[in-house]
Amino acid sequence: MKHINEAVSGVSGYFPKNNPEIGTPFNLKEDASVPLLFTPITIGNVTFKNRIFAAPMCQYSSDNGHATDWHVVHIGSMAVRGIGAICMEATAVVPEGRISPEDAGIWTDSQMEPLKRIVNFAHAHGTKIGVQLAHAGRKASTYATWVQVHGHHHTASKEENGWPDEVFGPSSIAWSENFGEPKELTKDELVKIEDAFLASIRRCQEIGCTLTSSNFIGAHGYLLHSFVSPLSNTRSDEFGGQSLENRLRWPLQLIARPEQENGQWKQFGIEQSKIYAAEMHKLGVDLVHVSTGGNWSGQKVATGPGFQVPFAEEIKKSNPKLFVGTVGLITDAKIAESYLQEGKADVIFLARALLRNPHWPLEAAEQLGVRVKAANQYERTFYRM
Ligand SMILES: Cc1cc2nc3c(=O)[nH]c(=O)nc-3n(C[C@H](O)[C@H](O)[C@H](O)COP(=O)(O)O)c2cc1C
Repeated sequence: MKHINEAVSGVSGYFPKNNPEIGTPFNLKEDASVPLLFTPITIGNVTFKNRIFAAPMCQYSSDNGHATDWHVVHIGSMAVRGIGAICMEATAVVPEGRISPEDAGIWTDSQMEPLKRIVNFAHAHGTKIGVQLAHAGRKASTYATWVQVHGHHHTASKEENGWPDEVFGPSSIAWSENFGEPKELTKDELVKIEDAFLASIRRCQEIGCTLTSSNFIGAHGYLLHSFVSPLSNTRSDEFGGQSLENRLRWPLQLIARPEQENGQWKQFGIEQSKIYAAEMHKLGVDLVHVSTGGNWSGQKVATGPGFQVPFAEEIKKSNPKLFVGTVGLITDAKIAESYLQEGKADVIFLARALLRNPHWPLEAAEQLGVRVKAANQYERTFYRM
């Protein structure tokens, strides 16, 4: 028998092959049961090796929208530690759709190559990956979190590399008193943004992203979210106002593009979200990652462990065939597993827990009493069970 350090096939560059994949159970006793967190799941035509997904996290570290070595290390560190899927940070489809000047972008071809390197690396380590396509709408042209004065969101001026005169939204309603009034998008401008999303999707497909198509940010008060809420959308045309159908029209039109090519509503809440999710599902959206808040500066969100889970659960209950991801202060493996066991969500997204501890999946496996594969290079650390 030959002893060869076998390479991963189908990727560029040499990487030792992990067999089985990192973050999947192995050497199990015959009667061992596998937690749902470590059970594969097929969503659409993609099978994920486990149900631990990395939520998108802006790094404010891009060079005119281009990923840098920071992103290679940041994303790579999660990919080598057994994450099932990584949704990379909000990635702008047009320059004026960035949250900050250092946001990631995919509006031009030169941004593909550095991303491709990261996608290749993630795939070589068995992790599915895509970018979160984004337009920040009226919350564009701000700062990296460590640059802004704490607790005070402001629009970045031109001298601060911002674009205060090119901030757009569904209506001319500022996000807060510290933000300028956005310009109301014309119908032609909406079509241009749709085209930009489509061009970005094509770029993502070309570089081999597994999560492509309508992988859009629809939360946190950014452009799509600001369309669906009557707080930020008071348009008088078919894309706005009191009618929920009107407010959902543009986001749904955007989501539909890749496939083809009364009472008074006060705010966007769970009931309207269920309808929105159902409409997205009809258009072929497979997975909705549920997050709330961010569209109104006056809102108070009560946070605590799993604070977003009840919203995911509501969406799941009303749309049982739609795959639902939950996120928000999930840190404990046993509690995460219980959300899956109780059918509150299909996959678990983690953000800050992974920044604090990229080994989360492997440690979760230990806590849940199942042995999973560590990267070959790290195995000697994890043979503790
Ligand atoms: C550093 C950082 C950057 C973030 N950037 C994004 C982003 O680009 N897109 C997004 O939808 N959410 C973003 N979020 C929100 C997270 O995806 C997640 O929903 C939130 O942090 C709650 O999950 P957690 O408690 O596991 O951190 C970000 C969060 C953090 C901590």
